[in-house]
Amino acid sequence: MALYAIEDVMMTAPVIPVLVIDDAGEAREIAEALVEGGLKVLEVTLRTEAALEVIKRMNLIKDAIVGAGTVTNKVQLEEALAAGSEFIVSPGLTEPLGNAAIKTGIPFLPGVATAGDIMRGLDMGLDHFKFFPATAAGGIPALKALAAPFGQCKFCPTGGITADTAADWLAVPSVLCVGGSWVVPKGAKPEEIHALAKQATELARA
Ligand code: 3PG
Repeated sequence: MALYAIEDVMMTAPVIPVLVIDDAGEAREIAEALVEGGLKVLEVTLRTEAALEVIKRMNLIKDAIVGAGTVTNKVQLEEALAAGSEFIVSPGLTEPLGNAAIKTGIPFLPGVATAGDIMRGLDMGLDHFKFFPATAAGGIPALKALAAPFGQCKFCPTGGITADTAADWLAVPSVLCVGGSWVVPKGAKPEEIHALAKQATELARA
């Protein structure tokens, strides 16, 4: 049984940091800087060799809610769950992955970019989505137009969002949180990550 529902995960903080970490040795200090800055939900993308180890280490940080991102198939889903992921994010939505994730009961946030994607999700019983790639797929006007016929759906736009644009996205009523890598710039020191996290935590929702 999952500890959280996907809506709880999305409402914990206005920003979900999207983490691409090459060195598991950095996991602890990055997670601590983010959590102490107020960003408790951490999305570790399965784009690096170290990702599963990073998930395990970040899970040891008090108050962190650690999930896996860039999960694109059932094998990765199983690996992410075995590493202790508390939620799963995918850039898209396929039936094999979606059905497998739903069966486990894990909070699941699949990516959508079209009305057809949303309709496929709704058919599977899903109504919380990542809007990806948010900026390249048309930005705020595209999300507003896409959300209009699907009033029951809530979104986490991700892709190309920055400290300067996050507030505009969060002002859209169907947006519960945004995702982004800007809070952990490559090579940043923990103090810098902490400051960026704090700034992100203070962003207001609609
Ligand atoms: C993702 O995986 O969700 C995106 O690549 C993150 O996008 P960003 O790096 O533009 O924030």
